Amino acid sequence: MCGIVGYIGTKQAAPIILDGLSRLEYRGYDSAGMAVFDGKKIDIQKSAGRLKILENLTRGGESMPGVCGIGHTRWATHGAPSDANAHPHFNKAETIAVVHNGIIENYLQLRKKLTGKGYQFVSETDTEVLAHLLDYYYRGNPLETVTKVLHRVEGSYALGIMFADCPDQIFAARKDSPLIVGENEDGCFIASDVPAILKYTRKVYYVDNHEVVRLRADHMHFYTVDEEEIEKEAVTIDWDANAAEKAGYEHFMLKEMYEQPKTISDTLTPRVKGKDVVIEELNMTDDELREIKKLHIVACGSAYHAGMTGKYVLEGLARIPVEVDLASEFRYRDPILEEGAMVIVISQSGETADTLAALREAKSRGFRVLGIVNVVGSSIAREADNVMYTWAGPEIAVATTKAYSAQLIALYLLAMKLGKARGKISDKLFASLLTDLRRLPDQIELLLNNKLRIQKFANRYIGAKDIFFIGRGIDYAISLEGSLKLKEISYIHSEAYAAGELKHGTISLIEEGTLVAAVSTQPDLYAKTISNMVEVKARGAFVLAVTCEGNKEIEKAADYVIYIPETNPYFANSLAIIPLQLFGYYVAVGKGCDVDKPRNLAKSVTVE
Ligand code: AGP
Repeated sequence: MCGIVGYIGTKQAAPIILDGLSRLEYRGYDSAGMAVFDGKKIDIQKSAGRLKILENLTRGGESMPGVCGIGHTRWATHGAPSDANAHPHFNKAETIAVVHNGIIENYLQLRKKLTGKGYQFVSETDTEVLAHLLDYYYRGNPLETVTKVLHRVEGSYALGIMFADCPDQIFAARKDSPLIVGENEDGCFIASDVPAILKYTRKVYYVDNHEVVRLRADHMHFYTVDEEEIEKEAVTIDWDANAAEKAGYEHFMLKEMYEQPKTISDTLTPRVKGKDVVIEELNMTDDELREIKKLHIVACGSAYHAGMTGKYVLEGLARIPVEVDLASEFRYRDPILEEGAMVIVISQSGETADTLAALREAKSRGFRVLGIVNVVGSSIAREADNVMYTWAGPEIAVATTKAYSAQLIALYLLAMKLGKARGKISDKLFASLLTDLRRLPDQIELLLNNKLRIQKFANRYIGAKDIFFIGRGIDYAISLEGSLKLKEISYIHSEAYAAGELKHGTISLIEEGTLVAAVSTQPDLYAKTISNMVEVKARGAFVLAVTCEGNKEIEKAADYVIYIPETNPYFANSLAIIPLQLFGYYVAVGKGCDVDKPRNLAKSVTVE
């Protein structure tokens, strides 16, 4: 997603902006630019390509002197990656500069209106419309101008705005796209996300929808879009600063995979009290839990895959009906939500546009929404009725690993809590589940230490064209995530299939040597999955099996076996996903891909 950084204070702005943008690279982008007031005019430098090009162009910011500026890394939505389409964008007189994250949905109507008034456009972007609209309304009062424009645009935005004849202030505004502001003794900051300014301040304010911020060198003022001044509470960020550093690992993704044991402990420990599971943030009595008639889990990408596992675990342990939806489908399909339903939205970033929209859809119909979220204070966390944080810490790699694992833990705990309240789990089984949960971190540690064997196996497939993942039940959900991990970072085509479904068409794609990863962690389904493995082998496939220790039978059908330690079948995803994460990672590394920042992808998809 696009990244925004702004600064006004006593220090040189350009180096601060470049440093901040470099800490937002994980969001994915294809061009970068900066606008700095040099004492007389606003200077803009921008270019397609990596941030390094802008750093070289501006000699690390030295060629852009000034103490007030805004910067941007662009993830293209309207118009290809190019110098002209890069932000910031100017008005014709070059007296107003703007950077934007989001989509102005009525930009074509606005562009037509402005063109009719003589405005000329130099880019294909929706954002340039804002620069000219600000120009159109500007009569010397920047706040009034900003609010007038905001009343006329539809869609989503996080904005940084500068006015050449008011160089003692910069403006920020937000609707749906995340934005924070912060301050320290040297000035005030705008940023799309905490890592960009954590080096300068831990005191931040989350800008809410329809809010405008005026930042000066030594203070900030908050307003509504109707220019009413408002007070906001600061949030102190307690992240460990080097959490956003690689700490000696080659990639953030590998570091974050290795953080999974801690992530799981951090998500588990606060919610396991003695022999019981306590989820205070649910804020629901056992009676209220018993009144829930159905759960709707809504999410995107890997969070959706976690939700798929959640369906099997919640239905299995709590015997409650669960429907799982992709957020981008749920929000537009006029879903049937019946009395007694509760909606669970899952999101690492807490800013995914489709998931946020799904939350709002459910709430608009009067249904309770529980958020399972990683980023504290994010939009979804703040708009959900209750939020279970996944305590995975900042996740920088675009391909999620530790946050996904923590989402699974949250869902297991929820299933146990619900199952116990509904009298579906015996004390004996509950105790056994707790024991198995507590063992997961050490078992994951063991699997991670097996990485060299997986790296060697992965190196055989860096030239692969198609790789299939199959499984039944929870193993199908695991396959979905294993397939996504591989394709999103190695760019190798991959599909995950319910193992029983393959013969209804896709099996025609299996050729001599095609790799099929068969996930088989559910003892009741071992035999069925073996028969599917035999089917694909008969057509030339090379079968990798991921299964539980003790399942020796599978060796008759598999060409290569990765064993995971024994655990309750409901928790098997937490273990089986580890070798699949490592497999995807090492294939991508073997191909020389940009593992942490895969092409075309963003860490948080804050646009539709
Ligand atoms: C996962 O590896 C992907 N980066 C992507 O599918 C991600 O899970 C999805 O975009 C949802 O993001 P969220 O959890 O922040 O809502």
